[in-house]
Amino acid sequence: MKVTMIGAGYVGLVSGACFAAFGTDVVVVDVEPAKIEALKQGRMPIYEPGLDNLVAENVSDGRLTFTTDLKSAVAGADAVFLAVGTPTRRGDGHADLSYVYAAARQVAEAATGPLVLVTKSTVPVGTGREVQAIVREARPDLAIDVASNPEFLREGSAIGDFMRPDRVVIGAENERAFAQLKRLYRPLYLIETPIVATSIESAELIKYAANSFLAVKITFINQMADLCEKAGADVHDVARGMGLDGRIGRKFLHAGPGYGGSCFPKDTLALARTAQELGAPVTIVEQAVVANEARKAAMADRVISALGGDAKGKVVAILGVTFKPETDDMRDAPSLVIIPKLLEAGAKVQAYDPQPHYARQVLPDAVSFVETAIGAAHGADAVVLLTEWNEFRAIDPKKLKLAMAGTVLCDLRNVFDPVLMRECGFQYSSIGRM
Ligand code: NAD
Ligand code: UDX
Repeated sequence: MKVTMIGAGYVGLVSGACFAAFGTDVVVVDVEPAKIEALKQGRMPIYEPGLDNLVAENVSDGRLTFTTDLKSAVAGADAVFLAVGTPTRRGDGHADLSYVYAAARQVAEAATGPLVLVTKSTVPVGTGREVQAIVREARPDLAIDVASNPEFLREGSAIGDFMRPDRVVIGAENERAFAQLKRLYRPLYLIETPIVATSIESAELIKYAANSFLAVKITFINQMADLCEKAGADVHDVARGMGLDGRIGRKFLHAGPGYGGSCFPKDTLALARTAQELGAPVTIVEQAVVANEARKAAMADRVISALGGDAKGKVVAILGVTFKPETDDMRDAPSLVIIPKLLEAGAKVQAYDPQPHYARQVLPDAVSFVETAIGAAHGADAVVLLTEWNEFRAIDPKKLKLAMAGTVLCDLRNVFDPVLMRECGFQYSSIGRM
């Protein structure tokens, strides 16, 4: 089988490399020449653990190639995946589908024979039918089947998630398309991965329902954390006691500064908009969107109040600025809200992140980046732990305190032990714990 992946982003690149590792011939296409050039030279355009080795292995085995030439990449393909972006559309919160529709048209025009066109991008319910209409109009002469195969990988553990998924969801318009996709995922049969075969509409909605449910779950525990603080309870214990109930589950019950990333914020918003438009509003998701936005801003206020209510002229060290550990992705990171608010309040911000590449491009110029966590803490009145990179767990609190000018430590990910930190002389605060 020959597979073409349109889009060399987090999803396209990882999925393309993983399909190649399954033994399929894969061509990954992107419109950005710099990305493709880097990949051809063995450099990854993104940071994702293990991706460089996986790509190198499959390139050297001859199963994985990269190009900017969509036409030649689509010629002779059995399956073409769309893994282009679906960001929030400016102004109304809907998903911007212009990249999906443009790519679908390009693929249809370039097709040289029958193929299955699979949407891997996260798209609102109804998009598959629109893609079908585009393809039928562009190529009435060809049997191009349309399918939806939403992706559930998480950044930072993307390869493991793709290779060992909880399930694979396939929505397709006919048996031929189901059969092609099942063939592609056959290596997962060995590990008994459930394949959920549905209509295109259901597959599209499964993706939004799953992401929105998780976002609501996080929002719930975040609000419980606020309640714990008022009531003198510990959100760790509450989450554990809840999560051990098999009907609830322990995952995604970590309280923090609000969810970020390239998916939850935009997907919750898009689901809310679609549902409103279809006359079946999902108000619980609408509420989560509002609460999450407010939470990010409230985190800056917490830091300012820990500084005595005035951040003017104070030095604040931020440890971790990406939206989660093990990624360089800055899309909708809480730091993008928290840091500008601290700067506005007159603070001087020194930041450290193990993967600062994109952060340097998108955070205000006033932020000074340093090379180590202790370096960021140097002369700081307050240290704020914002992203729970593993290396922060190993920080020596004595060294941290020695580097600082003040004693404020705001642990927005509940990484440190409150008792130990207070013993070390920190004015320590965390989320939902006393
Ligand atoms: P991304 O922005 O990292 O990558 C998209 C790529 O597509 C870009 O490199 C862009 O240049 C390229 N592109 C756009 N139009 C093109 C065209 N016509 N031809 C060739 N290349 C084109 O996006 P991403 O994070 O990989 O997300 C892609 C989709 O997958 C989105 O719908 C997203 O919601 C979904 N998704 C993302 C994740 C994640 O963790 N990032 C997980 C699951 C699903
Ligand atoms: C998410 C989905 O998990 C994945 O299935 C989908 O394909 C893409 O979107 P990702 O955004 O990469 O993946 O990371 P995830 O681990 O889900 O975290 C998202 C955000 O939620 C992060 O900001 C993270 O810090 C936050 N989070 C997660 C919490 O605040 N608490 C938790 O318990 C879990």
